[in-house]
Amino acid sequence: MKGLILSGGRGTRLRPFTYACAKQLIPVANKPILFYGIEALRKAGLTEIGIVTGNNREEIVTAVGEGERWGVRITAIHQAEPRGLAHAVQVARPFLGEDGFLMYLGDNLIGDDLSGMVERFNAKNADAMVMLAEVQEPERFGIAEMDGERVVRVVEKPRQPRSNLALVGVYLFNPLIHEAINEITPSWRNELEITDAIQVLVARGARVEAYRLTGWWKDTGRVDDLLEANRVMLDWWPKPVTLAGEVDANSQLEGDVELGPGSLVAGSIIRGPVAIGADCRVARSYIGPYTSIGAGSAVENTELEHSIVMEGCSLRSAGRITDSVIGKNTTVTGVKSRPQAHRLLLGHDSFLVIS
Ligand code: G1P
Repeated sequence: MKGLILSGGRGTRLRPFTYACAKQLIPVANKPILFYGIEALRKAGLTEIGIVTGNNREEIVTAVGEGERWGVRITAIHQAEPRGLAHAVQVARPFLGEDGFLMYLGDNLIGDDLSGMVERFNAKNADAMVMLAEVQEPERFGIAEMDGERVVRVVEKPRQPRSNLALVGVYLFNPLIHEAINEITPSWRNELEITDAIQVLVARGARVEAYRLTGWWKDTGRVDDLLEANRVMLDWWPKPVTLAGEVDANSQLEGDVELGPGSLVAGSIIRGPVAIGADCRVARSYIGPYTSIGAGSAVENTELEHSIVMEGCSLRSAGRITDSVIGKNTTVTGVKSRPQAHRLLLGHDSFLVIS
């Protein structure tokens, strides 16, 4: 079985960050979102992985290489136009050949081991299997209608949903799906919807099975979702957490704190869960729970909580920063030392003076 990760979307809802960075490479708990997907596939035993890219191709290829780091073989597949998930499968056909495959939407994070789903698919000899989770706003998703454990209908973003079971972006297929894709036409949003192709299979009486997600699932499509994903990931990460950097005697660390090599914490309080990358400097600061700080950043005389700070940032006397997402190589400096709370959504390479 092969793996197919779809990473072609433009990420317009994640601007300004996606002006300078592919949305799948935005870090959550200091690791690009896409890497979690690759790791999940690897853990499920899939080592031949195709990644469908769009205009972010070069960036993604530079970030993942050929997959050596994970012990997998990655093939980049170019989708010139984002014309839908089923179109991405069509474009990937030469890579997929006649193999079954697991398709994974590259901007999703799933707190579940995919091995169970792969085993069930193989054991049941199914034609397709969709991962489902209950959601609050079913009209925003592909929705499955069930009769017991059987999928009787799937509909893409129904106006009047008949169930709250959403397709969460993990699918297993055998090669029958290619014929089904050839039968569908573009939807109202001018995309070839994989949900429509699955419905073709259902209508033909093929074996379409459901797999209920047991853990959590985060779609990282919007800025607030990123902070939420960061929170969940920092809570979920495998313990024990590594402390590779240096902490001086005037600092206090509580809870799970990850500190990358070459990093220094001086005169500061860090209350986990917190992830600090390599070569960072944290001085005279308070870093509160659910914060991640990317490699090569400096935080001085600043209070920071529930935020994502990407690589190479400098926050100096910046007051109190909460619920913020700060793009790479950004500088925030303050002139007042009196604490004030700020909420910032700053794209890469920003420069902000708080006065
Ligand atoms: C896509 C699928 C939809 C699925 C969702 C999961 O939607 O078309 O069926 O429920 O991903 O994130 P999109 O993100 O393209 O709107």
